[in-house]
Amino acid sequence: MRLLLIGAPGAGKGTQAERLAERFSITHISSGDLLRQHVTEQTSIGQTIKAYLDAGDLVPDSVVLDMLRKPVVTAAESGGYVLDGFPRTVEQAKAAFEVASALGVAVQAAVHLDVPDDELIRRLLARGRGSDDTEEVIARRLRVYREKTVPLLEYYAGREWMFAVDGTRSPDEVHEDIVDRLRKLATFSI
Ligand code: AP5
Ligand code: MG
Repeated sequence: MRLLLIGAPGAGKGTQAERLAERFSITHISSGDLLRQHVTEQTSIGQTIKAYLDAGDLVPDSVVLDMLRKPVVTAAESGGYVLDGFPRTVEQAKAAFEVASALGVAVQAAVHLDVPDDELIRRLLARGRGSDDTEEVIARRLRVYREKTVPLLEYYAGREWMFAVDGTRSPDEVHEDIVDRLRKLATFSI
């Protein structure tokens, strides 16, 4: 099973990816978690990208694509993946599609977690993750989402493997809704 989770900052991508990974024995791959790990470990990638993360800006596509290639292929070979936070732009989606299709590991379903801004801001301020959950950086992340990721949703719109769920309900309700919707796709026998 190969899934994408798309949603604004705080929409619950990490929360839902974790549940899906456990339920279907697939690997949760979070671009944000991997990037933050590079910063914590002060790798050369980490030093290059820290300023982007702190500002709430997207890191360059080449960094993300290079970083994800191996984990995605490895996960696809051992049951599948749920990708959280990638792709985030139309350019990333196109580049990833080229590579993944050639390797036979292209995505089978994409889920849009839909949550209004006031709830996103409430959740992120309550969480207070390091330097990017401040009021100012949250505002920047939401603006980047609207400018860069909403066009990706429009690009995917109308494809039968893409669907939106109401992400404002409890994590368990959102999870069951996603599973129900996946069941309705012919791709999966779950
Ligand atoms: P990333 O780590 O992906 O952060 P984000 O998109 O801002 O989203 P979050 O991780 O903050 O939220 P989430 O949707 O995972 O929600 P969560 O489950 O945690 O990216 C960080 C940065 O990395 C970017 O700004 C960028 O710089 C860089 N980056 C990452 N990917 C990139 C890419 N592809 N290209 C370029 N740059 C990239 O939930 C949030 C909170 O809400 C939690 O406290 C949770 O407990 C709570 N919550 C979750 N669900 C519910 C619910 N149903 N009801 C109530 N509370 C809930
Ligand atoms: Mg996350």
